[in-house]
Amino acid sequence: MATQAASDPSLSLYRLLDPAVLADPYPLYKRLREEDPVHWDPYLHCWVFTRYADVHQVLHSFSADRTPSPDQLRALGIVGIEPIAEVMVRQMLFLDAPKHTHLRKLCSTAFTPRRVELLEERIEEIANRLIDAVFASGRMDVIGDFAAPFPSIVFAALLGVPEEDHKQLKAWSADFAEMLGNFQHNIDRVSRVLRSTAEMVAYFRRAIHEEERPLADGLLKSLVEAEVDGERLSEDEVIANAIVTMVGGQETTTNLIGSGLLTLLRQPAKLAELRDRPEVTAGAIEELLRYESPSQHTGRICREDVVIGGKPIRKGEAAMAVMAAGNRDPERFPDPDALDFERKDNRHLAFGWAAHFCFGAPLARMEGRIAFRALLDRLPGLALAADKLEWRENLGLRGLKALPVRFG
Ligand code: HEM
Repeated sequence: MATQAASDPSLSLYRLLDPAVLADPYPLYKRLREEDPVHWDPYLHCWVFTRYADVHQVLHSFSADRTPSPDQLRALGIVGIEPIAEVMVRQMLFLDAPKHTHLRKLCSTAFTPRRVELLEERIEEIANRLIDAVFASGRMDVIGDFAAPFPSIVFAALLGVPEEDHKQLKAWSADFAEMLGNFQHNIDRVSRVLRSTAEMVAYFRRAIHEEERPLADGLLKSLVEAEVDGERLSEDEVIANAIVTMVGGQETTTNLIGSGLLTLLRQPAKLAELRDRPEVTAGAIEELLRYESPSQHTGRICREDVVIGGKPIRKGEAAMAVMAAGNRDPERFPDPDALDFERKDNRHLAFGWAAHFCFGAPLARMEGRIAFRALLDRLPGLALAADKLEWRENLGLRGLKALPVRFG
């Protein structure tokens, strides 16, 4: 049975490449959880974990050091993409302790809860400004007019770079995120990501060294100045981690707003509940994160031989932890396909778990709260204005291409 399931192509995560599966991956996740929760995917050549407890264990104990170094790529005869690897091997997301602990500690001194709190009024102003721009028309594309620019304008403010750069920051982030979120190899994508990576690195390097316009107060300046026990980040580490913070914070937040609002539009009673009961907003954001997780899965490497769910996993084998499947596991969440803003003990996996738990979760939660309040409080009669919706071809960082709505 296990061998049969292991070779069953209809259980492969590659099926996410089918637009119909991508539009609703939850039946595939359910089958995986029920038929082969620790699944060897021969097409992806990795283990796929879909139960909450197993995803939790993988995030807790497997290695995050999964990106090949430039030297390893050269040894494999893979040339041309080393500049991307140069950046990724310095990003906290792809490092283990003690390097990860050290880097994250330094970055945390720059990205404090106080810095997030200070941004609150500015974030509210940005949300309202974006709504003002479309208010009179009675229509908007929630993604293009709101959910995409919102976190990128917030990010420009957070980093301390000029606000007018936000479109460029967004475009670079989208390219980089397409690579982070996908596991198929696409030659066109590689050249775009290479160009965007080179441009981002040059942009941040210039911003750090700009003599005429010294760095404004913000995350970038704080990363440059961060010091713990006499140690500082190298310039390459500052740049690599400014990039991972920017990319990590944009696509996901856009998709929390876009996919979250779509979920509400499809369940009008829940939309009305959130509109009429502001006191459930924080719980609703957690529930939307669980229900439609913006970051659906992440990769890891097995550190040492281990048995999970009765399957022997060997040291060095690759793993895919599907947080979005764990978040719908009935063994952990009663009635997991129901949206319940007052769900008890809602410790979902949408922000990951353990050492790599999302670095920007407090900001993401604040942005989510402000965005949903602004959209629901200011736009009465919100309704879907499209028969057909398309999902972006990003399998891990799940989100819509557009979300047309009308209101008023
Ligand atoms: C709804 C919004 C967000 C979601 C769903 C999300 C999700 C995640 C997840 C699942 C991880 C762990 C990945 C792994 O273990 O492989 C993560 C890590 C991370 N996130 Fe977020 N994120 C969000 C917003 C943000 C924001 C706003 C920022 C920055 C301000 C950010 C920065 C990061 C960084 C830097 C990491 C790496 C942490 C580490 O490796 O120690 N994220 N995020």
